[in-house]
Amino acid sequence: MNDFIYDIPVKVFFGKNQLGNLGPELKKYGKRVLMTYGGGSIKRIGLYDKVVAEIKKAGLELFELSGIEPNPRVTSVNKGAKICRAEKIDVLLAVGGGSTIDATKFIGAATYYDGDAWDLLTAKAPITNCLPIVTILTLAATGSEMDPVGVISNMETKDKLGFMHPLLLPKASFLDPTNTFTVSAYQTACGSADIISHILEEYFNMNRDLYMLDCVMEGLIKTVIKYAPVAINEPDNYEARANLMWTSSWAINGFINGGKNQAWSCHPMEHELSAIYDITHGLGLAILTPRWMEYTLDDTTVSKFYQFGCNVFDIDKNMEPMTVAKKSIEKLSDFFFNTLGLKKTFTEIGIDDTNFSTMAKKACMGGVLPGFKPLNQQDIENIFNMCL
Ligand code: NZQ
Ligand code: ZN
Repeated sequence: MNDFIYDIPVKVFFGKNQLGNLGPELKKYGKRVLMTYGGGSIKRIGLYDKVVAEIKKAGLELFELSGIEPNPRVTSVNKGAKICRAEKIDVLLAVGGGSTIDATKFIGAATYYDGDAWDLLTAKAPITNCLPIVTILTLAATGSEMDPVGVISNMETKDKLGFMHPLLLPKASFLDPTNTFTVSAYQTACGSADIISHILEEYFNMNRDLYMLDCVMEGLIKTVIKYAPVAINEPDNYEARANLMWTSSWAINGFINGGKNQAWSCHPMEHELSAIYDITHGLGLAILTPRWMEYTLDDTTVSKFYQFGCNVFDIDKNMEPMTVAKKSIEKLSDFFFNTLGLKKTFTEIGIDDTNFSTMAKKACMGGVLPGFKPLNQQDIENIFNMCL
């Protein structure tokens, strides 16, 4: 068990009657607000009008950047940073899902960099400062509302890079589950797969960790398994949306990490997929995860799968550990592909093996992905092939 520092200074306004706090919260950081959003869902759900009314009520000046893409592009980041510099923006307000929030984080950082924002993602230039960021989350998935990470795509180089920096952490996030009532069944499914993957990336670890954190992670996964189907069948079920929303934040805000120093596995592989094929992140993870589990299951890792199967899926403890382990992978597959209704193979979503070798090389940066089980380029290609 390693030492760790717990420090998650994001103020969360949770629930359906919190928007009245938005104006005073933004005002703390200045007068000139740049609101960022995506392709228009916030207008369709009536949230845009409510947010604008709060900003006006607080006497703040509003500027806007719309059209942030799912798998947000660095071009949008550069555009936003240009507005911030030209209009002397004091505070950023991201209204949307992970893509809008991630792009806004890099807009905030790129405002202080006089060059292409891509340099910040490739660490060619350091992040030295960031505008204060407030978020209003509309999709439970990435946890970007409470973490210091941004993931940005470069369509020219076909790269998708994630970068973590404490300055990117939002100052405050508004989490109103009713804002997610309109999220489609497909995006709810993908978001749920993403949340589960964030937990599994931490949970599958052979080091001695805090028992308490393992119990929390099992509880978080069970929460998604219980409530994702409810949200899909009854999109305006508040209890289900609230549980998914708060789980999305706690899956990746750093709490469950508790000093683990092991790298993630499925995320680096998936980012290569969405970089080239522009697929939804959670869908890529749902297809990859059970295959990664099959690939990493052996006599040295079986005990963790046994724990997962018994505690998350209530599989009979008295069965052979390897039997429980295999059943746990079947149960997770059943949840992703039958309960959530996500596509099961790359072939079904139009991906063949053309780019496997390039993607695998990039995912392990030409070396070894030092995750739960270290994976080299050939291992990653083998996992991609299992997904066909
Ligand atoms: O663009 P709009 O019109 O807003 O529509 C979006 C988009 O089409 C729509 N949507 C969002 N809220 C809605 C809604 N539709 C109806 N009602 C609502 N309330 O949903 C679509 C997907 O939105 P997006 O923001 O792309 O989804 P998500 O939140 O899953 O974000 C995915 C991005 O986050 C990155 C992913 O790689 C991907 O680029 N990630 C960020 C992480 C982080 N910051 O820590 C970690 C994750 O592992 C992940 O990599
Ligand atoms: Zn993710």
